[in-house]
Amino acid sequence: MKTTTFPDLTAPASNIILGLMRITEMSDDDIRALVGAARDSGITFFDHADVYGGAPHVCEQRFGDAITLSPSERESVIIQSKVGIRDGFWDFSREHIVESAEQSLTALGIETLDILLLHRPDALVEPDEVAAAFDELKAAGKVSAFGVSNHTPMQVELLKKSVTQPLLVNQVQLSITHANLIAAGVSANMNGLDQSIDRDNGILDYSRVNDITLQAWSPFQKGFFDGVFLGDREHYAELNDVIDELAAAYSVAPEAIAVAWITRHPANMQVVLGTTNPRRVRDSAAGSDLPLTRQEWYRLFTAAGHLLP
Ligand SMILES: NC(=O)c1ccc[n+]([C@@H]2O[C@H](COP(=O)([O-])OP(=O)(O)OC[C@H]3O[C@@H](n4cnc5c(N)ncnc54)[C@H](OP(=O)(O)O)[C@@H]3O)[C@@H](O)[C@H]2O)c1
Repeated sequence: MKTTTFPDLTAPASNIILGLMRITEMSDDDIRALVGAARDSGITFFDHADVYGGAPHVCEQRFGDAITLSPSERESVIIQSKVGIRDGFWDFSREHIVESAEQSLTALGIETLDILLLHRPDALVEPDEVAAAFDELKAAGKVSAFGVSNHTPMQVELLKKSVTQPLLVNQVQLSITHANLIAAGVSANMNGLDQSIDRDNGILDYSRVNDITLQAWSPFQKGFFDGVFLGDREHYAELNDVIDELAAAYSVAPEAIAVAWITRHPANMQVVLGTTNPRRVRDSAAGSDLPLTRQEWYRLFTAAGHLLP
């Protein structure tokens, strides 16, 4: 398992993350089996959000009820959560950020969140409020580090007018098939190509320039929660042919190839898995450090329908 380190965090950060958005209906035993498969595969990083589970803190509470970490286990993992999405509105006020982070700690049954992300950009964001909340949480030892999710470069810059805590992470949607943040740059400056439309104002290059780690959510989804491309031969026959060929060549499952397409990128991204299936966790983790060649990476890119102009 490939790992990196983040400032202010002692545990190594695996480049594969287990996301816990889909555990609402799972039993405690099944959650333990899922988390156990992740730990056995070398995954040290767990992703939550206050909003997962349909009501505030439901999935965090499911995790907290099922998983008891000894002090040494707690020191060897990174637990991340998010704040900002509320029922019908988004809220980056100081009061809400602090209150929700404290409720996340209670639900998860831990003393400190390793990383707290702002979930989706709040149209009414006031950077001073965010800065005050982050400083308060950091000073109280309740959050060690901070980041954002689904933020454009200028939204990050706006926050940085007031926020002095480093923003380490931007969690964004990325899979082979939902890859505009990579594909737009490949077809820069082309007339009349949909792929050339930059939908995020250069998140990829901005993050590389500023050492912000991108975390890829929904790595197997075709688009926005509309099913997985793996095995979808009706819409992605060529892509599945290439994935299956490479999976056989590397003696791994197709999930590992889909993961490796992201981890092979030199931006050192992390991949946030959403599976609830321990076998798929293990199969996906095999893509952590799988050395796809440049040619193989581009074959997957074009087989998914992206163009090389
Ligand atoms: N920051 C954000 O805005 C944001 C948004 C969404 C999600 N997230 C994070 O990202 C994580 C991952 O998101 P996601 O769950 O959408 O990602 P995903 O891993 O692309 O999708 C997981 C879903 O796909 C199914 N699946 C995976 N491989 C499959 C296969 N080979 N065949 C059939 N079904 C397959 C899983 O079913 P099984 O459970 O049966 O394997 C599960 O329902 C979440 O847990 C959350 O932590 C963040």
